Order: sequence, then structure tokens, then C-alpha cells
Amino acid sequence: MAFQKLIHHSIGEEHTDYYVGYSWTQLQGLVPIDRTVLLIDELVACYHPEISRDWKTLIIPSGEASKSWEMMRSLVDALIRWEVDRSWWLVGVGGGVVTDLVGFLAAIYMRGLRVGFVPSTLLAQVDASIGGKNGVDVGKYKNLIGTIRQPAFVIMDPQLLSSLPLREWQNGFAEIIKYACIADADLFGYLENHREQALQGEEETLFHLVLTSLQHKLHIVEEDPYEKNRRRFLNFGHTLGHAIEKVVEIPHGQAISVGMRVACQLSIQMAGLKPEEAERIQHLLQAYGLPTALPDIDWSEVWDCLRHDKKREKEVLHFILLERIGSACIKPIPIRELESVLPVYW
Ligand SMILES: NC(=O)c1ccc[n+]([C@@H]2O[C@H](COP(=O)([O-])OP(=O)(O)OC[C@H]3O[C@@H](n4cnc5c(N)ncnc54)[C@H](O)[C@@H]3O)[C@@H](O)[C@H]2O)c1
Repeated sequence: MAFQKLIHHSIGEEHTDYYVGYSWTQLQGLVPIDRTVLLIDELVACYHPEISRDWKTLIIPSGEASKSWEMMRSLVDALIRWEVDRSWWLVGVGGGVVTDLVGFLAAIYMRGLRVGFVPSTLLAQVDASIGGKNGVDVGKYKNLIGTIRQPAFVIMDPQLLSSLPLREWQNGFAEIIKYACIADADLFGYLENHREQALQGEEETLFHLVLTSLQHKLHIVEEDPYEKNRRRFLNFGHTLGHAIEKVVEIPHGQAISVGMRVACQLSIQMAGLKPEEAERIQHLLQAYGLPTALPDIDWSEVWDCLRHDKKREKEVLHFILLERIGSACIKPIPIRELESVLPVYW
């Protein structure tokens, strides 16, 4: 049995086709080969050279540093050189760095080209390529410039994930565990019961996890495309996670894993989460190889970053907490209170 599903999805006037479990070779039927530029992550081009063989291709160096104005500028120069006009397509093949960068490039070049994605990391398949947010970093300011614009199609090809290193799998699993915590107790149970299969990238399990994550993200984005309310639930574990990432260079999944564990402690105190559920969450994170504490990191440095979080509103930070597994809420917590409570949970 083929594990494939095509989902047609619209947000306002914008329409996206999500090809879950399909091969990247699907591209040939979706875009004209003579009027398409493929922008591909350098490691993907290296591990899967067959993808870029027949296309006009630009290679994007691996890593967050490519999500920059400078890279945008050099890509624009390349498009001008090739006389790319509004009848062309851009296709981003890579992780979240490439989908964010190419989504933004397509949004602003000649006031908008059509764009599609072939996400090649688990994180990009379950999160970054979905929902239309794009952008680049400016210096130390992450995602400072960008737009919200939906791609025309996204192809989620499980074969591409075969070359991913373990830590990139873990980054993706951390986001899937996040969806389970905020919105889906069944998914949580599934993750508990299919750990082996998930970690081995078994086809049916992976298909279920990617499809379910996609459906959750679409549902949340559809309800709240501009992050005024429910979309903020996606930040579960991220408020503290982002502060940790500023202090120490660790993979995103590890930082938000610690952030989720601390948010669970706060949830017991402030949102009625049962301690045994918090324990289940901690076990699940650990079962997927994610850390739930970082004892060697200096709390005062993390706190300093957290205090200056861009989402802070006056003296209050909005934390995403859990009422139970599968149900989240937004809680405004005064900075003063966090200052005394958080070190206890660190
Ligand atoms: N727009 C959104 O809604 C959204 C959501 C979450 C994250 N993001 C953004 O996504 C980015 C993180 O995405 P990511 O985790 O995919 O990182 P990434 O794009 O940097 O990819 C991670 C690493 O994996 C490599 N890689 C990619 N595909 C591979 C493959 N198939 N085989 C082997 N190696 C491969 C890359 O070269 C890179 O070294 C961040 O910039 C983040 O801000 C955006």
C-alpha cells in the first residue's frame, strides 16, 4: 500500500496543494522545466544529486547564515542574470532555511513569483514549509523581515529524509511532540507506542506523523493566520527555547525540549496540568533522545535573554501552558513572578 495523500488547502485567496508521501519527481508535472529555478540546499544537492540534474539550479549553502539579506541580494542578481520574469516559478528544496528564504524571495522579486517547496528535513515537513511564514534574519535579529504568503504546492517526500543526521530527526520530533501536547492526546499516545518505528523512519509511521502534523498546523493557521491568538500555541516551549538558543549553540529541538519541560512545570502550578501528565511528557521527550534539562548552562544568562523577548508586552510575558495533554492555553505571567518561579524549575 502506498502511503500518500494529496491535500488541497486554501487560506483566503491563496491555494496550496500538499503532496504527503509523494516523490520529488512529481515536480515535473507541476512546473515547466524551462521556466523554473530550483534553489537547493547544498547538502541535499550533494546527497540527492539526481534532483537538480535537469533544472536551472542555484545552490544555497547549508546553515542559518544563508537566511540573510546578503544571500537574498545575490539570489536576486542571479535571477536578473537569467532574465527570470513573472511567468517563472521558484522551487525551494531544503530545510526550513531554504523554504523561509525562497518563500521570501518569491514574495518580493518582481512583486511576486509563483513558488513551491520540497522540504527535505523532518522539521520543514512538519512545520517550516507549512503556513506561509517566510523571511530572513538581519544580523542577530531572527526572522526580522518577511511576509506571510502561501506556496502553490509542497511535496513531502519521505525518501529525502533518509540522509538526515540524527539531530535533524530529533528537531522534527520535538515539533511533533509539541503538536501532540497542545492539540492531540491521540497523537501523544501514538508517539509513545511507535517510538521504535518513528526513530527508524518506518514508512507508515512517518506518513502518519507528517500528515497529522500538517493537519494540525493547517488547522491552527487557518483559524489565526496572523498569530493573534491560537497560532501562538505553536510557541509552546519556544519562549524559553529561543532564549536558550541565544545563550548556547544547541539544536533547536533540544532547546525547545527543555522549554517544553519547564513550561510543563509552570503548567502544573498555573494551568492545572496533572503532575503525572507532566511526567509523561518528560518521558516522551527523553524517549526521543531529547534533553529535558541543561544543568551546565548559566540560568542568569538565559533569564537575561528571556526578559528581553520581543514578544514581551510591558511587564508581562505570554507563556503557552497546558491544561492537560492535548489542550493548551495562553497565560500572561508578570516578569516579576517568572523571575522568582523559573529558577526553581531550571
Ligand atoms: N516559516 C515557519 O513557519 C518556520 C517554522 C519553523 C522553523 N522555521 C525556520 O526553519 C529553519 C530551521 O529549519 P531546519 O531545521 O530544516 O534547518 P535547516 O534548513 O538549516 O536544515 C538543517 C540541516 O540539515 C541539512 N539538510 C537539509 N536536508 C537534508 C537532507 N535531506 N539530508 C541531509 N541533510 C539535510 C541542511 O543542510 C542543514 O545543515 C530556521 O531558520 C527556522 O527559523 C520556519
